[in-house]
Amino acid sequence: MRDQVILVTGGAGGIGGEVSRRLDQAGALVAVADLAESPGGAFSISCDITDAASCDEAAAAVVRRFGRLDGLVNCAGVSRPHDSLSLPPPEWARMVDVQLNGAFYIAQACGRRMAEAGGSIVFITSTNAEAAFPRRAAYCAAKAGVAMLTKVLAIEWASLGIRVNAVGPAYVATEMTRRNIAAGNVNEEQIKARIPLGRLARPDDVAGAVEFLLSRRASFITGHSLYVDGGWLAYGYF
Ligand SMILES: NC(=O)c1ccc[n+]([C@@H]2O[C@H](COP(=O)([O-])OP(=O)(O)OC[C@H]3O[C@@H](n4cnc5c(N)ncnc54)[C@H](O)[C@@H]3O)[C@@H](O)[C@H]2O)c1
Repeated sequence: MRDQVILVTGGAGGIGGEVSRRLDQAGALVAVADLAESPGGAFSISCDITDAASCDEAAAAVVRRFGRLDGLVNCAGVSRPHDSLSLPPPEWARMVDVQLNGAFYIAQACGRRMAEAGGSIVFITSTNAEAAFPRRAAYCAAKAGVAMLTKVLAIEWASLGIRVNAVGPAYVATEMTRRNIAAGNVNEEQIKARIPLGRLARPDDVAGAVEFLLSRRASFITGHSLYVDGGWLAYGYF
């Protein structure tokens, strides 16, 4: 990853923060874009990925600072489980805006800057791109949308040398999960019992998969969703 210029959205969060640290340790030049201030020492950009102009400005800021853009990791996301019968339409729209529309806007902004020299994009999706959970209609539908977006952009931009992949974690021990446990949306013991490897994912499990897909070791992999789930999706017994 030495001297590769990588933009990480949601870089102030649990997964994005770990991805940023790992890429930095691997010698990459990391820019963090988030609504929130980034705690790390990386080049930090204020960005709302639901706003296409804000995404374009973030990609432009990276090119102004480093002269080019080689990679994007889209970790921005929100999780707010809610009964489907009473889900207010603005809440549905906000979830789809952050997870799906935002993924497209930031990929488009970065893809435009990679169109000459090529690059690599990794979306963070979720096992919920494949597995349905109750009270998560918008989240699951949007993540499934991003898994398909991964395929479409991969084939459309292959001729430009841009690879597009996704990493889909099961539950990861981050603030997002802690908030869901505290709100009673998630039972930690039940989750561990449902995961064949017997534990929640650690942010570095996810960051390792992201680094691999960004790197030249994955140079013939595109349009792929790699699930980092301890066996969750494979499990079909009781
Ligand atoms: N934590 C999990 O168990 C888990 C499991 C599967 C998938 N994921 C996905 O991984 C990604 C990261 O999750 P996390 O656990 O690190 O969550 P987190 O809450 O720790 O971090 C999410 C970050 O996204 C930022 N963000 C939210 N809306 C934004 C917007 N409109 N524009 C820019 N930034 C925005 C937040 O400020 C925050 O820093 C999300 O896409 C999430 O859906 C998480």
